[in-house]
Amino acid sequence: MPPAILVRASGPLAGRVRVGGAKNSVLKLMAATLLAEGRHHLRNVPRIADVGIMADLLTAMGVQVRSCGARDDGLLLDVPAECRPEAPYELVERIRASIVVLGPLLTRFGAARVSLPGGDDFGPRPIDMHLRGLEAMGAELELDHGYLVGRCDRLHGAEVTFDFPSVGATENVLMAAVLAKGTTVIDNAAREPEIADLCAFLTAMGAEIEGVGSSRLVVHGVEPSDLRPTTHTVVPDRVEAATYLAALAVAGGRLELVGARRDHMQMLLAKLGDAGLDVTVTPDGLVASAAGRPRAVDVATLPYPGIATDYKPMLTAMLSVAEGVSIVTENLFAGRFRYVDELVRLGADIRTDAHHAVVRGVPRLSGAPVRAHDIRAGAALVVAGLAAEGETLITDAHHLDRGYEDLVDKLRSVGVSIDRL
Ligand code: EPU
Repeated sequence: MPPAILVRASGPLAGRVRVGGAKNSVLKLMAATLLAEGRHHLRNVPRIADVGIMADLLTAMGVQVRSCGARDDGLLLDVPAECRPEAPYELVERIRASIVVLGPLLTRFGAARVSLPGGDDFGPRPIDMHLRGLEAMGAELELDHGYLVGRCDRLHGAEVTFDFPSVGATENVLMAAVLAKGTTVIDNAAREPEIADLCAFLTAMGAEIEGVGSSRLVVHGVEPSDLRPTTHTVVPDRVEAATYLAALAVAGGRLELVGARRDHMQMLLAKLGDAGLDVTVTPDGLVASAAGRPRAVDVATLPYPGIATDYKPMLTAMLSVAEGVSIVTENLFAGRFRYVDELVRLGADIRTDAHHAVVRGVPRLSGAPVRAHDIRAGAALVVAGLAAEGETLITDAHHLDRGYEDLVDKLRSVGVSIDRL
């Protein structure tokens, strides 16, 4: 039986929560270790299921992956001189992010066989920009029975301009460029903090990258012998922090988010300020407080530094109990409104039309059995459950384990009535 989570109306919240390392950074850092032989050490690694799946994928290639111990949040990755450059369907299907092994495998080993990831719960997830970027650098790619099979002599530098600042395409081309011959310019690159984190890791390994944090990355390729394994601390997870802030806005109270970084969440914090949350920066992270119902605000998702699409389900849950009417617009993933039907089961008044949702705030929701379709949809249901009379039973809660470390324990420690079944 997949796990379920039972949440009861709760609040006010009080206490400290530690924000862990970012899922969407650590998975790419693990893939990046493929670029250099030797022992890499990642710190602040979240204990989440996706890290385990990525570890299985790297292990299947010949990398030795082990945790530094029960009380240590580190991961050691021993990358051999030769790897088996293959990502099988059984693992890729469980974790779409595994497509980012394509660039490192091609550039280091001149070969890759990576299963195509397929669609998921937010609709089509094409990878055409990843492929065009790698082809511009000299990779030959073909589709063979569901697998992308790539070959190349040494990749060469190229000018790659993305139609859209895709996170995954930027990461794949960036990692490929590190060992390419000559200079690669990536224009309209994604600017998410997790990409800057990857650049910092690659630079510490010996890569030469200019424009870190901007939408124009210039990568001067180096020789394999110039790269060395390194130690790196994973950037904090801004989506995890946003989840606790949305919970606070719904339940009220005061929370200290240890490790959260305001500079990674500026637009979100401005929006939450408009909704009534009071946030201040401390030497350790952020302190936020909320009283009464949140106020309605309009939200439109955009690539960084805009409001991340990953925040949106939790924000929609928060707005479903806000005073007033909010319009939520999804600009990244056409199908990312599936969780709305579950919020409606809890009594939310939400109408969707194409990529917009009109959210008419109601004072209280009403607990019911609901299903988590993906990680953030599950988090949204937990947030909604805080304002739902009676009990909210969230099934398929294993999705939450993919991206949240100790969600239930962390929320319980700040006063939420929540159990894992
Ligand atoms: N796109 C294309 N062609 C491509 C690549 C992307 O059309 O070749 C489109 C996508 O269909 C989408 C948009 O571009 O409409 C953005 O996709 P992007 O490539 O930026 O997303 P991603 O790399 O697949 C990562 C995160 C997602 C997050 C998005 C957007 C990881 C593992 N995943 O996905 O996180 O929503 O960026 O910020 O980093 C999550 O954590 O729950 C999650 C889904």
